[in-house]
This record gives sequence, structure tokens and C-alpha cells, in this order.
Amino acid sequence: MEASKTKQLVLLGVIAVVVVVLLCVFFFNRHNQVALEGPQGEIAADEVHSAAWGQFYPAHWDSYQTNMANTLNPSHFETKPYMKIIYAGTGFAAEFNEPRGHLYTIEDVKSIDSARQKSGASCFTCKSTQAPEMIKEYGDQYYLMSFDQMKDKITEPIGCLDCHDPKTMELRLTRPALIEALERQGQSVDKLTNQEMRSLVCAQCHVTYYFQPDSKKITFPWDKGLTAEEILNYFDEQNFTEWVHPVAGTNLVKARHAEYETFMGSTHQSAGLACADCHMPYTTVGNKKVSSHVWQSPLNNIEQSCTVCHRNGTEWLKTRVRTIQAQVKQSQDLAGAAVMEAINELKISRETPTVDKTKLQEAMALHREAQWYLDYVMVTNGYGFHNPTATLNNLNTAIDKAHKAVAKAREARR
Ligand code: HEC
Ligand code: HEC
Ligand code: HEC
Ligand code: HEC
Repeated sequence: MEASKTKQLVLLGVIAVVVVVLLCVFFFNRHNQVALEGPQGEIAADEVHSAAWGQFYPAHWDSYQTNMANTLNPSHFETKPYMKIIYAGTGFAAEFNEPRGHLYTIEDVKSIDSARQKSGASCFTCKSTQAPEMIKEYGDQYYLMSFDQMKDKITEPIGCLDCHDPKTMELRLTRPALIEALERQGQSVDKLTNQEMRSLVCAQCHVTYYFQPDSKKITFPWDKGLTAEEILNYFDEQNFTEWVHPVAGTNLVKARHAEYETFMGSTHQSAGLACADCHMPYTTVGNKKVSSHVWQSPLNNIEQSCTVCHRNGTEWLKTRVRTIQAQVKQSQDLAGAAVMEAINELKISRETPTVDKTKLQEAMALHREAQWYLDYVMVTNGYGFHNPTATLNNLNTAIDKAHKAVAKAREARR
């Protein structure tokens, strides 16, 4: 009896020790993964210099600095010459480059064609960790300031403060336009899940937006929903026009890099993925797992970004992506040609003294729609991969509306 009791006690003791050791290993590793990398100390609550954060997170700092290697930003005009014509009357017709690494934002925004600086201080909102501080300092006046008034105050590119709380390192939102858009949708910002945040930190900048007519405040046009159609309905309802096309005479709206909106409702998003799953996959640094902080094409590190879920092999995946993108490009070129034709027909009709004014207006309304759907696809990064079906559907709409605009413009002068 005594002996077996002792045995039992010893056994329990051993189990307890094992459990404690396992818990220690688990928590030590967890902690190790997330926090205890460099020296200990505090990061200031408003630390805009990412290098200061880097002292505590050397592995993340190294990863972040690798963004310097992402240097290419060719002109959009090389592959989409029709852009120059459809953007006539805006700065986008003067210069429009594809994006590159997050660390180049200051260099790129400061060297942009002066025609594009008319948007004012707002240009810096998505380029620098210092933007939230400036918005706080100047209040609504920030949006009315000129590019030159802000230029010399801004030195830091996108960095840690944009996405992280310096105390807890939790993800957080720092851009008012996103927070306000979510609140208007009835979402409460502190109830968002971590997986939602792994996309929403990107949605602070990788979205379409507009400047409110008088206040010039950056606003996300999401109140009716996030599809291209719902966003255009919102603009129509507000009677909003960003500029008038000098040749066609049409009241137009400008789409901007709608990566987040396009991704929402896609196969991957409905399967529960977030931007960070493909663009910030886990990488191993020593014995630690670290989320990659190199924001780049996931095809550069496909073994980390895709094959964790897809077992079809890297070549198959790459070919799938390139096939989707080539199909999108083909339809996009058709839409580009159709919108150019609509612009040209509108020009001829406007120059015709006997033109039917009502039909001309109808043709312009069709041009507005066609150009919106084309633009929405054309300026959204990823060349359609983020949501192939919605993208091709938008291009179909663009082609259809442009053809109808052509027909209506011709009818107007008969
Ligand atoms: C554009 C947004 C963004 C920026 C900028 C950014 N991070 Fe992160 N960071 C993330 C996301 C997303 C995760 C993944 C969080 C999760 O899964 O909970 C992450 C995770 C982390 C983690 C947790 C461990 C891990 O690897 O998952 C640390 C530590 C971290 N980042 C440090 C930094 C530092 C230091 C900087 C600046 C040099 C920085 N981050 C800049 C978005 C960002
Ligand atoms: C504060 C604004 C901001 C945030 C937050 C942000 N980005 Fe960016 N991102 C930009 C800008 C601006 C560029 C273009 C920089 C340039 O060309 O100078 C860019 C460029 C990129 C590129 C490179 C594109 C290319 O062609 O090489 C990728 C990929 C990217 N971002 C993904 C992300 C992801 C994923 C997130 C969220 C984890 C994110 N970004 C968060 C503003 C932001
Ligand atoms: C299922 C994986 C996946 C998800 C999720 C995803 N992307 Fe992408 N993303 C890609 C692929 C693939 C490309 C195309 C890269 C290429 O053409 O080389 C891309 C391209 C981009 C680019 C242009 C980069 C370049 O080098 O051309 C940006 C910016 C971007 N994505 C942002 C985002 C944002 C923001 C989100 C979330 C709203 C997101 N992505 C979600 C896979 C993904
Ligand atoms: C976290 C898991 C996960 C990751 C990471 C992931 N995918 Fe997927 N992918 C899915 C799921 C789930 C589907 C839905 C169909 C299925 O079950 O295969 C899907 C569908 C697809 C499809 C079908 C086309 C579509 O959009 O409907 C393609 C192509 C694809 N993925 C490519 C990629 C590429 C390229 C990457 C890396 C940039 C990637 N995926 C990363 C889970 C993932």
C-alpha cells in the first residue's frame, strides 16, 4: 500500500514537473518570438523613427530594410499608353509610375511632377509615419495646406508606428480616414479581430479615396459598400465630380489603388485570408519565426507565401498568376481602346453645332461609367490577381458602357 502511494506521488510529481517545463518552453518561445529580441527598454509612444524601434526588434529591422531592394517603378504609360488620354486634365496624364518599396515613399513623393503636387499636403498622408502627428497638430487645416508647406517637415517613410502600438506591438490603425469610414459603417474599431487587422493595417493606404469638395478632407467612399459599382453609386448620389475631361466634356471621378476593396469578396478573402498571409509570410530567423516585413510581390518568395497552402508546386502557381494577369491585361486593353474611342466620338459630337444636347449628356454619362470601371482595375495593383472574377466583370462593364457611349455620341449628331 505505502509503496504504491509513494509511486503515485512520484508519478504525479514527475507529471507536474513535465507540465511546468512544457509551459515554460511554450511561454518562453512565444515571448521570444514576439518580443525579447534586442535590448529591453521603451519605445516612445510617438516614435516616428523606425530605426529606434529596430534596436528592440533587430530581426524585424533587418527585414524592413530589405525593402530598399525593391527599386523598380516603371511608368504606367509604357504598358498602358491610353492612360495619358483618359486622364487628360489631371496631373496623372503628366506622370504616373507604378509603386515600389515602402522605404522609397519620401524620395518618390518629393520628386513627383509638379502637376501632381496640386493635391497638397494630403499627398504625405500615405507616405510617412509623421502624417498622423501632422494631422493632429494642424487639425482639418492639414488637408488645406499646400505640398510645399508640408514638404520640409516630412522626412520619415512608412514605418513601425504606422501599424504597431509601441508598448504592446499590437496592430493598430493610425489613419483617420479609415477609422471614420469603418465607424460610418457601424463597425467598432476596438472590436476588430486580429485577422481583420492583418488586412486593415494595409487598408489605411491601399484603398481608393477622394478629397471632399470644400474641406479637401481625405474620405473613403465606402458608405454604400466596397464594390466598384457601390462606390460609383456613392459618387453619383453625392453628385461628385473630380474633374471635367477637356476633350470629352465629361464629369469624371478618379479611382485609386483599390487593393483592399478588390480583395474583399475574393476567393482568398472568403477563405479567411488577409493581406499579411501572402505579403508578410513567416520566415525563419535563427530559431525564431518572424513575419516578413518585406512588402513585395509574393512571387519573389512563393515557398513562404503560397505553398504553405497550395501543394501544386511553385511553377504551376506562378503560371496561374501570370495567366490570370495576362487575361486581365487583354480585357483591359480592349476597355482602354473603347474608352479612347468614346472620348473621340464625344469630341466630334461636341464640335457638331446641330448636336442633340440630351443625347450628348447621355453619352457623357456612359463615358463616366466606362472610365470609372476601367480606371478602378487599371490602377489597382496585382493586375487582377486579388480578385480575378470581379476584375474581369468590371472590365466587361467598362467595355459595354464605352461601346454604348460611342453609339450614343454618334446618335447625338444624326
Ligand atoms: C504596414 C504595416 C506594418 C509595418 C509598417 C510594420 N509592421 Fe510589424 N507587423 C505587421 C503585421 C501585419 C504583423 C503580423 C501581426 C500578427 O499576425 O498578429 C507584424 C508583426 C510584428 C511583430 C510580431 C512578431 C511577428 O514577426 O509576427 C513585431 C515584433 C513587429 N511586427 C515589429 C515591427 C517593427 C520593428 C517595425 C518597423 C521596423 C514594423 N513591425 C513595421 C505590420 C507592420
Ligand atoms: C502608410 C501607408 C501604407 C501602408 C500602411 C501600407 N502601404 Fe504598401 N505602399 C504604400 C505606398 C505609398 C507604396 C508605394 C511606394 C513608392 O512607390 O514610393 C506602397 C507599396 C507597397 C508594395 C510594393 C509594390 C511594388 O510594386 O513593389 C507592396 C507589395 C505593398 N505596399 C503592400 C502592403 C501591405 C501588404 C500592407 C499591409 C501589411 C501595406 N502595404 C501597408 C503605402 C502603404
Ligand atoms: C492570396 C495571396 C494574396 C493576398 C491575400 C493579397 N495579395 Fe497582394 N498580391 C498577390 C500576388 C500574387 C500579386 C502579384 C504579384 C506580381 O505580379 O508579381 C500581388 C500584388 C500586390 C501588390 C503589387 C505588388 C507588385 O509587386 O506588383 C500590392 C501593392 C498588393 N498586392 C497589396 C495587397 C493588399 C493591400 C492586400 C490585402 C487587401 C493583398 N495584396 C492581398 C497575392 C496576394
Ligand atoms: C492560407 C492559405 C492560402 C494561401 C497562403 C494562398 N492560398 Fe490560394 N487559395 C486558397 C484557398 C482556400 C483557395 C480556394 C480554392 C481551393 O480550395 O483551392 C485558393 C485559391 C487559389 C486560386 C484559384 C483562383 C481564385 O482566385 O479563385 C489560385 C490561382 C491561388 N489560390 C493562388 C495562390 C497564390 C499564387 C498564392 C500565393 C501568393 C496563394 N494562392 C496563397 C488558400 C491559400
